[in-house]
Amino acid sequence: MKTNLHHITLLGVVAALTACGGGSGGGDTPPPASSSSSSSVVSSSSSSSSSSVESSSSSSSVSSEGPIAIEPDFDLYATTPTDFPVGVAVSAANENYSIFNHSDASARQDVITRHFSQLTAGNIMKMSYLHPQEDTFTFGDADQLVGFAETNGMTVHGHALVWHSSYQVPGFMNNYDGDFAAMLTDHVTNVVQHFETEYPGVVTSWDVVNEAVDQGAGDGFRRSVFYNELPPATDGDIPEYLKVAFQAARDAAPDVDLYYNDYDNTANETRLNKTLQIAEALNEEGTIDGVGFQMHIYMGYPSLSHFENAFQQVVDMGLKVKLTEIDVSVVNPYGSNPPAQPEYDEQLANDQKQRFCQVAEVYLDTVPAEQRGGFTVWGLTDDESWLMNQFANSTGADYDDVWPLLFNADLSAKPALQGVADAFTGQGCN
Ligand code: G3I
Repeated sequence: MKTNLHHITLLGVVAALTACGGGSGGGDTPPPASSSSSSSVVSSSSSSSSSSVESSSSSSSVSSEGPIAIEPDFDLYATTPTDFPVGVAVSAANENYSIFNHSDASARQDVITRHFSQLTAGNIMKMSYLHPQEDTFTFGDADQLVGFAETNGMTVHGHALVWHSSYQVPGFMNNYDGDFAAMLTDHVTNVVQHFETEYPGVVTSWDVVNEAVDQGAGDGFRRSVFYNELPPATDGDIPEYLKVAFQAARDAAPDVDLYYNDYDNTANETRLNKTLQIAEALNEEGTIDGVGFQMHIYMGYPSLSHFENAFQQVVDMGLKVKLTEIDVSVVNPYGSNPPAQPEYDEQLANDQKQRFCQVAEVYLDTVPAEQRGGFTVWGLTDDESWLMNQFANSTGADYDDVWPLLFNADLSAKPALQGVADAFTGQGCN
């Protein structure tokens, strides 16, 4: 597997070149407003300074001058101080932006294998893809992806064994006529064991259950087919299906890290507490290793102290913290007056760099090395992000772009990539 040890020499040079002082705490620092910045993006012809941000023109913007880009002199995964996974969600098979079939697939693969040490399938390892009918498992597309990871010395974070989303639930699981717990156990066991057998040591973790919380439901647990088919939560306990799924995964692969994964569970206290309740109950059974925080966030929300508080509570349980689906939209369209389409200029690019840096920094500051499950971004290039559809569908806001990721559409690196590396190398966030 990829390790950053062979990059120690390079990092030593970078650190010497950019002696900006150790990483500042940052945990309680309010996030930057998207219109302000403590430092500006500099135009530079040098590609050797890890703290400078290159751009094609001092007044460039996406629309008029092309993307704002840097030329990184580092491989992101190699900048981690303690060698935790640095991941990216990818499209595969015949999806748009597939790393195998897209017109720039080879270039995408180059960027991915250079900067990341772990892959998550954005879609193709979900339930309906792998297990469309009760007696049929279809592993071909996932095998291509996991095999690619293995060939390139990368690991895979499996996503997701159980998820309520109707689009992802195999039809046969609805109105199931039989022993639902046995069927669910069979599903989890077969999927986990397939990858254990075919690619030993490659799938190092799984989101066993994704998004079981629904603060609108009476007891805070989402009413899914899984919730409905097995005993519900009683007396402060969690729904039975969570226990069944985690036990099956644990039995199938005792050495693989098992995560409960959810969204909006940092600033939203109700959802955070429900997440913690699930983690605690599974921890008592010895079937969970960590909590996944999806981290679909904005420039100014949630605050760094919200992240710190949430991560700390999981750390205090002795579990791992994995940031599983990070993206930082430069606009937050929710609310009564959604902002207008911004221009992605140097100021905004630098603000976003700082935001990514601060998120990575609070992760390092709060989570001890042995409890760091990883840092994963939800997509490679801005144009492939799920957020474009999401915002249009859920808010009606029709943005041309919200630039949430680390790479531009042309695969050039954004200042945000530098921001993450700055945090990982302890240089502080500018
Ligand atoms: O591949 C088909 C394509 O052939 C077809 O033409 C097109 C027409 O709609 O659909 C394509 O499939 C889409 C698929 O993404 C691949 O791009 C599905 O419609 C679409 O629903 C699916 O959306 C995904 C969504 O999960 C639902 O599975 C998003 O890409 C993916 O980013 C998103 O990921 C979730 C995580 O799993 C859980 N956490 C939240 C996160 C964001 O919603």
